[in-house]
Amino acid sequence: MPVSDRKKVTVPDLAKWRESGRRISMITAYDVTFARLVDEAGVDMILVGDSLAMVVKGERNTIPVSLDEMAYHVRCVARAHTKALVVGDLPFGSYQSSPEQAVDSAVLLMKSGAESVKLEGGTHVAATIEAITRVDIPVIGHIGLTPQSYHRMGGHRIQGRRSGFEAGGRERLLEDAHAVEQAGAAAIVVEGVPLDLAAEITDKISIPTIGIGAGPHCSGQVLVLHDVLGLCDSQYKFAKQYAQLREAVIGATRSFVDEVDRGVWPDVDHSFQ
Ligand code: KIV
Repeated sequence: MPVSDRKKVTVPDLAKWRESGRRISMITAYDVTFARLVDEAGVDMILVGDSLAMVVKGERNTIPVSLDEMAYHVRCVARAHTKALVVGDLPFGSYQSSPEQAVDSAVLLMKSGAESVKLEGGTHVAATIEAITRVDIPVIGHIGLTPQSYHRMGGHRIQGRRSGFEAGGRERLLEDAHAVEQAGAAAIVVEGVPLDLAAEITDKISIPTIGIGAGPHCSGQVLVLHDVLGLCDSQYKFAKQYAQLREAVIGATRSFVDEVDRGVWPDVDHSFQ
């Protein structure tokens, strides 16, 4: 369907789609050019993810990215006026101190053009999710492999393989999913957990689950744009390259360098009289 004929995706659509079984697609974008392109491709949700710390800023994990940097990228994406629902990621340190701090941070992302916000955690952030939803800002939860818990997890590690109620344990993740739903989240990203656990979470809660590295049984799927386009040199087991743009970018730039070097660029057709 041409993008102009598509209806704007709204937060209530997520509940409707969960009910009807329609699968939900989400992809990251960090600027207006890619936001327009992925919107034209028909994606349901665009996540301005704190993964930009790694794929845009070159950091090792998501921890260093600031709220102001996230707000800047949300503004860049919002200027695309997409049909896809724009989700702004609350970065590490912008919501952990208190529910009041979380509301202020969420308000800043909404004023920057986000249409919902995402934050990481389960039972411990339930009061925070409640506070944000109370001021009518829709919240997407995020449980499982939560990249902002990088140091507690000892790296980006699959969660929910052991049973138990301690952080990262299987029963704890089920408890986390319930807490996030009860707190009023509109959907939950479930990242880096065994596929049977993601299936059980999806079965036991009534809001949509959006999986990444969580198998096929979630209500929807999310991937990082740079992985989808094959722009990074590393490839993760959970990610799929739908294009190999790294080679294309290097090839095109190499051709430009070569033509400049040989003095054949620009030719007269690309010059002014
Ligand atoms: O920041 C991000 O890109 C994310 C996705 C991996 C879900 O949180």
